[in-house]
Amino acid sequence: MTTSIVDIQAGSKNYPVMIGSSLLGALGDAIARMQPSPPTRVLLVADDSLPASTVDTARASLASACNEVFIASCHATEENKSIAAFEKLHAAAASQGIDRGDCLVALGGGITGDLVGFVAATHRRGVRVIQCPTTLLAMVDASVGGKTGINLVAQSMLLKNFVGNFHQPECVLASIDTLDSLDDRQFRSGLGECIKHAMISGSTDPQLGDWTRINLAAILNRNTRALAELIERNVRVKAAVVATDERETAKTGGRALLNLGHTFAHAIETIPTLSPDDESSNAPLLHGEAVALGLVAAVSTARSLDLVDNALFDQTLRTIQESGLPTQISGLPSNESIVDRMAHDKKALGGSMRFVLPVGPGSAKTVLTPPLNAVKKGLDAIRSEI
Ligand SMILES: NC(=O)c1ccc[n+]([C@@H]2O[C@H](COP(=O)([O-])OP(=O)(O)OC[C@H]3O[C@@H](n4cnc5c(N)ncnc54)[C@H](O)[C@@H]3O)[C@@H](O)[C@H]2O)c1
Repeated sequence: MTTSIVDIQAGSKNYPVMIGSSLLGALGDAIARMQPSPPTRVLLVADDSLPASTVDTARASLASACNEVFIASCHATEENKSIAAFEKLHAAAASQGIDRGDCLVALGGGITGDLVGFVAATHRRGVRVIQCPTTLLAMVDASVGGKTGINLVAQSMLLKNFVGNFHQPECVLASIDTLDSLDDRQFRSGLGECIKHAMISGSTDPQLGDWTRINLAAILNRNTRALAELIERNVRVKAAVVATDERETAKTGGRALLNLGHTFAHAIETIPTLSPDDESSNAPLLHGEAVALGLVAAVSTARSLDLVDNALFDQTLRTIQESGLPTQISGLPSNESIVDRMAHDKKALGGSMRFVLPVGPGSAKTVLTPPLNAVKKGLDAIRSEI
């Protein structure tokens, strides 16, 4: 299959996202092309769930282009997306003498990419990084756009992505074959962010929602062509948003639109007992599962404010259900307690809470502190007891 390339113009840096098969073998070329000069040392940080053959392919390709390749591993859990893991990776980079001319390579899902990206952003005040996403979620979303970070524990709460920075990669290599080892639940989790993109894609790709629904069976069967098109179109949507508002400083709209569903999602995904299907062994929720529930809560909040009609509400629910993602769960804490958690979310601005709510097919807007009743209706919509 041919490799497609999406150019990201982030303001602080332009770089390519390459999407294709067997791309890890091209890592050496990517290193050799780096400007102003290629690194001599590379620290490859690989998710410890990856098959050894995936890590070996990446290492061999890197070794063809630079003198020294060091390997570190990342245990990808939200608890380990932490200051302790951040410190450990800095120590590994320091002990291998990684300096500002060198490079880190993140090989893994969004947790590995966010953590390694943040280490790269801060090691000796910044070294270069290449992102090699190995989950669908990281290919369509997390590896692109330069947001890096870790979670923080404060007041006994795990605050998602509370500490971080913007640090654009040199390039992104999305090698679709790496998804072969990803289990179905993790794969479907990536579709949560794809559905989100389709809900804000109106000005870039108004057909994305329809295309995704029509091709859902091929996507769930992991047809390579369908996946390549899905990833490319989603990356283009993200690229368009990032190009207008790299650091999420726009007062309204802008990059914040990518947070559709996330104010709700972040408040529930760190509750350790919640499971997508009432099976306690499946707790906690995965990020994309929490996003799916957050999208239901957001579209329901929007409906109670007359921003969207019943047809859009029903279509959103159907798409999420057909993707194998949850639309309701049991065991949620009280609405008051979830609202309290949302108030701690980093998207709370000067005492007010910022939500992103859909306003029509492919279109959403930022809303500062919507009426509490509407937010509670949104939460009631994802409560399976009701
Ligand atoms: N930076 C951003 O813009 C951005 C955007 C969206 C999400 N995120 C972050 O991304 C994270 C979620 O990312 P994710 O869903 O990729 O999670 P993840 O990194 O935890 O990966 C999911 C699981 O799959 C395993 N895994 C990864 N690749 C594999 C493969 N190819 N084969 C087998 N197992 C594999 C991991 O070990 C992990 O258990 C969240 O922390 C979220 O906050 C960041």
